[in-house]
Amino acid sequence: PTYETLLTRTEGPVGIITLNRPKQLNALNDRLMDELGAALRAFDADDAIGCIILTGSEKAFAAGADIAAMAQYTFSDVYRTEYITRNWEALRHVRKPVIAAVAGFALGGGCEVAMMCDLIIAADNAKFGQPEVKIGVVPGAGGTQRLPRAIGKAKAMDMVLTGRMMDAAEAERAGLVSRVVPLDKLMDEALAVALSIASLPRLAVLAAKEAVNRAFEGPLSDGLMYERRLFHAMFATADQKEGMAAFLEKRTPHFQHR
Ligand code: HXC
Repeated sequence: PTYETLLTRTEGPVGIITLNRPKQLNALNDRLMDELGAALRAFDADDAIGCIILTGSEKAFAAGADIAAMAQYTFSDVYRTEYITRNWEALRHVRKPVIAAVAGFALGGGCEVAMMCDLIIAADNAKFGQPEVKIGVVPGAGGTQRLPRAIGKAKAMDMVLTGRMMDAAEAERAGLVSRVVPLDKLMDEALAVALSIASLPRLAVLAAKEAVNRAFEGPLSDGLMYERRLFHAMFATADQKEGMAAFLEKRTPHFQHR
């Protein structure tokens, strides 16, 4: 399919989605979020794809929700219709790992979309922030919930209350991003990580993502039980037999993703 606000392509078993509203620094409007949901669902449903990369341009991952589109909305507009906020849950429902490859601005909704991904790889020019308070609103797609979980209360309050930007080095120190690389290496690095994930047994990868996500819901005892049951469940898969046999026989495993 072709999209108005996105580019999609594949590199072997990796699906790559590029946000593409360059004139607006990839500001996120309803059209873009609808298309992003559709593109994610398509890659998630495609058996040939094992990992997804979401990226923007060198200047901006995304500079936030589209301020021009929402400036005139009333409370009644947004509450009734879910304009702006509709379809932002799509990323949460993707079962395959999604890597955010972030260069430039990841602000407001852009930072929130990056945090909805499973891990963030940042270029050295990346800047993260939740500047909503400066334009009279508050984060609306998880910023006040995912940021404290990622970087702790003190730094999250600092970001959300002042609206300041955090550079890539600070974001890595704070634990918001998993790796920082030079801008010209960003896609190479994201692709290397995605290819390594895609080469692993699919069922184990899906279960691992599901188990880690459980760490952010409910009590520890439930998360531990959930993890243990998923661990047990892996013994029903062909790739567990193959992976362990190959290790013991000192040979390369041949995974069937079953
Ligand atoms: C609409 C935007 C935009 C945005 C940038 N543009 N961000 N348009 N919505 N969020 C547009 C500008 O209007 C401008 O258009 C063009 O992109 C280039 O931006 P400049 O400001 O000229 O670039 P620069 O001086 O380099 O500054 C970059 C910037 C700044 C620091 C990122 O653009 C900025 O502060 N943007 C807004 C960031 C923000 O407040 N985000 C949070 C939004 S609220 P023209 O036509 O003039 O060339 C939000 C809520 C999420 O995200 C809720 C989720 C449900």
